[in-house]
Amino acid sequence: MKIHPVAFGTPEYDELIRLRYRVLKEPLGLDFSEEDLSKEFEDTHVALYDDAYQLLACLVLSPETGGQVRMRQVAVLPEKQNSGFGRELVGYSEDWSRRAGFKEMVLHAREQAIPFYEKLGYKKAGKKFTEVGLDHWQMKKSL
Ligand SMILES: CC(C)(COP(=O)(O)OP(=O)(O)OC[C@H]1O[C@@H](n2cnc3c(N)ncnc32)[C@H](O)[C@@H]1OP(=O)(O)O)[C@@H](O)C(=O)NCCC(=O)NCCS
Repeated sequence: MKIHPVAFGTPEYDELIRLRYRVLKEPLGLDFSEEDLSKEFEDTHVALYDDAYQLLACLVLSPETGGQVRMRQVAVLPEKQNSGFGRELVGYSEDWSRRAGFKEMVLHAREQAIPFYEKLGYKKAGKKFTEVGLDHWQMKKSL
C-alpha cells in the first residue's frame, strides 16, 4: 500500500475525481461543477494505492482559518470498503495535517459514516443539518 498527496490538475488528480464521482456523487444523481473543482488547487489531495498502483481511496484536505483543516470527499472504492483503507487514509492525513501545523481536523459527516469517524476519535459538534439532500453532522478532532 502507498499513500501520498497528488498534484492538482494532473492525470492522477483526474483519477481521484473519477473515484469521488463514482462513490460520492453518482449515487445521488449529482456531478461536480467547474466552479467547485477550480477552487481545489489550494487543497491537498491524498490518494491511497495498492502495491500495483491501483487507486483504492482518496480524500481532500482544505485549509481553514484558526488552525483548522477540513477533511472532505472521503471515498473508498466500493469493493474495497470495510478493509481498513479508510482508517489508513485518515490516519495518514491527520499526521500530514499535524506536520503542516494544523491543530484541529473538522468535517461534515454523512449520518451513515458517523460510526466510522467515531471509531477514529472524532466527536459530533453542533446539530444535524442537511447537505446534498442527506443528514450530516459537523465532527472534529484535535490533532
Ligand atoms: C465511510 C468510508 C470512508 C469508511 O472507509 P472504510 O475503508 O470502508 O472503513 P475501514 O475499513 O477503515 O473501517 C474502520 C472502522 O470503522 C468501521 N466502519 C466503517 N464504515 C462503517 C459504517 N458505515 N458503519 C459502522 N462502522 C463502520 C469498520 O467496521 C472499522 O471498525 P473496526 O476497526 O472495529 O473493524 C467508506 O466506507 C466509504 O467510502 N463509504 C462511502 C462514501 C462515504 O460515506 N464517505 C464519507 C462521507 S462523509
